[in-house]
Amino acid sequence: MKALAEHDPLLEGMYWIQDAGACCGVYALDQGRTLIDAGNMYGLADELLDLGPLDRLQRVLLTHSHFDHVGGLAEIYQLASPVLYAHPLTREYLRLLRPPFPDFFDALERDGKLQLIEDGTVLDGNPPLQVLHLPGHTAGDLAFFDPRSGALFSGDAVLANRTRYGAALSKPDEVSGGRLQDKVTSLRRLLALPVKHLFAGHGDPLFDKGADQIKISLATLYREQDKDRPERAWLAMGRDLMALGQSGDAEQCARKALELAPNDPEATQFLSALAEPPHPAG
Ligand SMILES: [Fe+2]
Ligand SMILES: [Fe+2]
Repeated sequence: MKALAEHDPLLEGMYWIQDAGACCGVYALDQGRTLIDAGNMYGLADELLDLGPLDRLQRVLLTHSHFDHVGGLAEIYQLASPVLYAHPLTREYLRLLRPPFPDFFDALERDGKLQLIEDGTVLDGNPPLQVLHLPGHTAGDLAFFDPRSGALFSGDAVLANRTRYGAALSKPDEVSGGRLQDKVTSLRRLLALPVKHLFAGHGDPLFDKGADQIKISLATLYREQDKDRPERAWLAMGRDLMALGQSGDAEQCARKALELAPNDPEATQFLSALAEPPHPAG
């Protein structure tokens, strides 16, 4: 278990549980009162005991319905009785898991222990968390944002690792409603969020470079969409950054596009538009 406050005091009370039989990254907040995801193997409860008795666990926030994030709930609910929070679409896709999990979630719902949450909800607690619905990997993906520290708990919507060719990307799982176009929209939305730290469902915690990783993730996705025309990925990225008022970075993207395709008319036009002084009002 790793205390995140070692890197940033604003992350006090938050922990990454990396080796507790959790097949995804599990995060404990508020000194173990809140859990984000549950991994899928036994051992998580044992780790949580380091933070205090298990009955302190009040809620589990679910990023999405995949088994590597929910399987560990079976152990947790043998020992504690937290409220489970999930998006309504995730609730539906939990019905697709292997038995006995669909019955397990039905029972939670009957007991009033399943709370459905949507985009824009603010969850009270320490810290309060903004709920973001970021479909793409599945239809019901949620991320949880702490505006005070800039920590984004992103599940599989954005991953924290990089490959030789860019960011590691989660695939759209069509069986669970994942769609590539939604993923692009979700990542574009995250570009505008002041993310400092990225705590994803897989990979190590990424401190201070969260916003960079989101940019690289979106650029990687654009590149994968248009493999034969890499200049188009740079242009798309440039337009997104321009829309956010980041004209310096947008210009760098336009220049990269022109390096790859020196006569590309769209890139030329974009670069000259960036160089033009803004029109006077009126
Ligand atoms: Fe997943
Ligand atoms: Fe996962």
